[in-house]
Amino acid sequence: MHITKPAPDVLALNDAAEIPGLGFLPVNSFLVHAEQPMLIDTGLPTSREAFLEQLWSAIDPSDLRWIYLTHPDRDHTGSLAEVMAAAPQAKLVTTFMGYGIVGIDFPITPDRIYLLNPGQSLDLGDRTLTCFRPPVFDSPATTGLHDASTGTCFTSDCFGAPMATGDLIEDIADLPADDVLAAQRLWVTVDSPWVAHVDRARFHDTLQPLRAFDPTTVLSTHLPPARDAMPQLLDMLAGSPDADPFVGPDQAALEAMLAGFEPAH
Ligand SMILES: [Fe+2]
Ligand SMILES: [Fe+2]
Repeated sequence: MHITKPAPDVLALNDAAEIPGLGFLPVNSFLVHAEQPMLIDTGLPTSREAFLEQLWSAIDPSDLRWIYLTHPDRDHTGSLAEVMAAAPQAKLVTTFMGYGIVGIDFPITPDRIYLLNPGQSLDLGDRTLTCFRPPVFDSPATTGLHDASTGTCFTSDCFGAPMATGDLIEDIADLPADDVLAAQRLWVTVDSPWVAHVDRARFHDTLQPLRAFDPTTVLSTHLPPARDAMPQLLDMLAGSPDADPFVGPDQAALEAMLAGFEPAH
């Protein structure tokens, strides 16, 4: 795990998960140093110890005021229970749906919850964050946040891409643009396979809010930082309904792979 500073007032906890056949998916959480500090997502369950060590080296648990979940998938909730327990001042910011899904894993009393819907805003004392629904998502509870005061947009799984290595990358501009584009298109078909069936014109309408934000920095949970890149990110999304659908390996492929591991007689 690495700690980086990808945008003003933002600390990132950068991790990665290897997905066989696809590559290394960045898994990023973010700490926003607002007047009322906010943690965005809580890392992988498999990295819990390192995540908590790095997080509490960056902020005192008693200072944390908000824990925002982009959505309650397991690669985002790894240390949620531990952070909630250690930071008694902090409220969990999620949707009604997110609250319900998190409650399957462990109970959270309503006084620890703040329900935020797309189109609504949250005041962190020195700035107001705007909540939106990203154009592609793999959970009905998904939202993103835009911080107009710093030009930073947090987009959840949207814009993610598996990388060739697990090495830290500080800006997608450091990678060949065609490689990033291909990896992002692949990720859309993996994470949001429904995109193949959308009405193209209506899908393109859903890109408009992000175009209007015109953020300087896009911070996806599954992509290195993207700076001054929103036009090409939106072009990538606009074409994603026509990308080849992803089909995962089947049983025959698994058996062929296992046979390759058997010792020769
Ligand atoms: Fe997800
Ligand atoms: Fe995810």
